[in-house]
Amino acid sequence: MSAPSFVCGCDVVEVARLSAALDRRSAMLTRLFTAREIADARRGDTLPGSQVERARLAARFAAKEATRKALGDLRLPFHAVEVRTERDGRPVLWLRGAASALSCSLSHDAGVALAVVVGVYPHGASLDAAASPSVTPDR
Ligand SMILES: CC(C)(COP(=O)(O)OP(=O)(O)OC[C@H]1O[C@@H](n2cnc3c(N)ncnc32)[C@H](O)[C@@H]1OP(=O)(O)O)[C@@H](O)C(=O)NCCC(=O)NCCS
Repeated sequence: MSAPSFVCGCDVVEVARLSAALDRRSAMLTRLFTAREIADARRGDTLPGSQVERARLAARFAAKEATRKALGDLRLPFHAVEVRTERDGRPVLWLRGAASALSCSLSHDAGVALAVVVGVYPHGASLDAAASPSVTPDR
C-alpha cells in the first residue's frame, strides 16, 4: 500500500490592494466571491466596505489562490472554490458545490491576509473528482 501524499497551497494578499480593486469596480465583488462568502465576511456587526470585511474577503481570495496551487489547477474559477464559515468561525472549503477533502486556515493582520490549504492525497484517489487536479501523487 502506498503512503499518502500531501498537497499544499498558500497565498498572501495585501488587503489594501484588493480593497482598492473592489472600490474601483463594484462588479468585482460578485465576480470573485459567492453570496455566502460576502455574507460570511459581513457576519456579526461588520459593515460592508469596512476594514474587517475587506480583510476577510482578502483572506477568502487568498484561499481561492491557495486551492488552485494545492490542486495544481491554476485556472480553477473563483466561484468553484467557496470558503464557508462554520458556526464556530472555522473556515471550510467547498469545491464546485460539494464539501472538499481539503482543509484551509485563514489569518489577517497588519494589512495582509493569508490562506493555507492542505489535503491528503490517497494513492489512486482524487481530492476532488470535479476539479481533476493535475498533481501526480507518486511523482
Ligand atoms: C479563532 C482565533 C484563533 C482567530 O485568531 P485571530 O488572531 O483573532 O485572527 P486571525 O486573523 O489569525 O484568524 C482569523 C481567522 O481565523 C479563522 N477562525 C475563526 N475561528 C476559528 C476556529 N474555531 N477554528 C479555526 N479557524 C478559525 C477564521 O477563518 C478567521 O477568519 P475570518 O474572520 O476571515 O473568517 C481567535 O479568535 C480565538 O482564539 N478565538 C477564541 C475562541 C473564540 O473566541 N471563539 C469565538 C467564536 S463563537
